[in-house]
Amino acid sequence: MSALVVYESCFGNTALVARSVGDGIATHMPVRVCSVTCLDDHGTDGEDLVVIGGPTHAFAMSRPQTRRDAMERLGDRPVDQAGIREFIDRLAPARSMQLYATFDTRADNVRHLPGSAAHSAARALRHNGHRVVDRGASFYVAGVEGPLLPYERDRAREWGERVALRAEELLQRA
Ligand SMILES: Cc1cc2nc3c(=O)[nH]c(=O)nc-3n(C[C@H](O)[C@H](O)[C@H](O)COP(=O)(O)O)c2cc1C
Repeated sequence: MSALVVYESCFGNTALVARSVGDGIATHMPVRVCSVTCLDDHGTDGEDLVVIGGPTHAFAMSRPQTRRDAMERLGDRPVDQAGIREFIDRLAPARSMQLYATFDTRADNVRHLPGSAAHSAARALRHNGHRVVDRGASFYVAGVEGPLLPYERDRAREWGERVALRAEELLQRA
């Protein structure tokens, strides 16, 4: 059994959460943690569990325009880069025993607003026939650029551990 954590991150917060999720998964199975921009075209490498995380932008997964908006906040020249939305679109057809889970980061000061990249990613995965084994987790940042709120990395590690345990149980039963 092995796992892949794929993340997208504009300001670095989701990358930190992804590493903590990876640390949690590593207590159950070997895992690699990769930025979506670093994976080659065929994406996953047949891992049993694929965990996908990105920042919530405009109530859902990022789009090219929201990523450009984020880059402009940093004073960077906007470059077109793929995000998790495009990664999910490019995934190979569903395999019965490949399991997925999703997470996101969100701004703490708009917690009352609906919308979550984790939920929209899970919806897109299910729509394409993939099996999603968790309801999706959100981790919170201060303002738009962060930092992560205290204890979110601990929460992410614990969540990663729970997801890996669930995947392990399902895969052993199969
Ligand atoms: C264009 C844009 C739109 C955003 N929209 C939302 C939103 O709808 N809900 C929310 O909670 N946070 C929103 N945010 C805040 C992001 O979720 C936050 O920047 C992100 O979690 C930080 O993660 P990162 O450091 O990995 O980029 C938005 C940020 C940007 C740049």
